[in-house]
Amino acid sequence: MAVIIVCPKCAKKHKVNLDTVKEKVSLGKKIVGRCKSCRHRFPVQLDKLINQKKERFQRPKTSTRKICVTLSKGGVGKTTTSVNLSAGLALAGHKVLLVDTDTQGQSSYGLGKKPRAGLAELLTKKLTPEECIVRARKNLWLLSGGKSLTEIKRVIDRKTFGAEWTLSKVLNKLDHRYDFVIIDTAPGWDQLTVNVLFYGTEVLVPVALEVMPLHGLSEFMKSLGSIQKYRKETVLKYIVPTFMDTRIKGPSTIYSQLKKLYPEYICTPIRYSESLSEAPSYGKSIFEFAPGSTASADYKELVRKVTLDDSALL
Ligand SMILES: Nc1ncnc2c1ncn2[C@@H]1O[C@H](COP(=O)(O)OP(=O)(O)OP(=O)(O)O)[C@@H](O)[C@H]1O
Ligand SMILES: [Mg+2]
Repeated sequence: MAVIIVCPKCAKKHKVNLDTVKEKVSLGKKIVGRCKSCRHRFPVQLDKLINQKKERFQRPKTSTRKICVTLSKGGVGKTTTSVNLSAGLALAGHKVLLVDTDTQGQSSYGLGKKPRAGLAELLTKKLTPEECIVRARKNLWLLSGGKSLTEIKRVIDRKTFGAEWTLSKVLNKLDHRYDFVIIDTAPGWDQLTVNVLFYGTEVLVPVALEVMPLHGLSEFMKSLGSIQKYRKETVLKYIVPTFMDTRIKGPSTIYSQLKKLYPEYICTPIRYSESLSEAPSYGKSIFEFAPGSTASADYKELVRKVTLDDSALL
């Protein structure tokens, strides 16, 4: 096992193989180090360094669930679902990070937040995670999107190698703090969408039951398939029908078709609800804005489906 010892005078980092000093450590002897660079002599707390290293190794493997809310088609309820699923999971006691990868920046708006920094500043390392992630509610943190992500797309596009891992490299370092990371994506298909699918492991697809959704869905499945060739961990988990309007025949017919086509992924539909379109302008989740609404009940049902906890939010 090797540890890094930093010289307090010149800040030079030295890699020390512990096997070479094993005897002294086990006897609990004090160690005095000498910097090879500036020759400065200083006491070394080797026991502390070893314990820190052990802790890092023993930290349980992250069990964070990473859910990408995505579909190339616009206006299908991606942001609405990302915000309310995140808020619902947080209410159910889970620690949630909501990541907005859309230049429209609607997720922050929906939670009534105007963070000065977000995902763009984190990806460019201009600011620390602590400066970029804002607490939106109890148990709910937000990494906001917005216009500044446009530049990030250019940076990713210019990369020759490993462009698809840009987001993973940054989020993998901090996601162990959360039970769930929910990622809202932009409409369309670009490098950032690819990055999201290389980071997340579960895919949730909202499908609007309003107009001809099946073509868009099958096109998306093809694109997802092309990602899965390189990234086996990313799997489709949920198809969430949205804009379910029971007063007219069309949505129920499309819902029945979806159920037949994708029985293993289909979730209970989110009904059409005025409250869902009103809530964002008040900066509130559906549970805060209209707790007794059908939409609130539907998103609670989705929380139960995702957590496999039948008693959540009852
Ligand atoms: N079940 C619903 N009933 C009524 N209105 C809804 C419902 N779900 C979403 N909306 C509204 O429809 C609009 C589009 O929803 P949303 O922004 O969530 O879609 P999106 O897929 O994120 O869009 P984009 O692709 O532009 O990011 C919003 O105004 C939202 O408030
Ligand atoms: Mg959106």
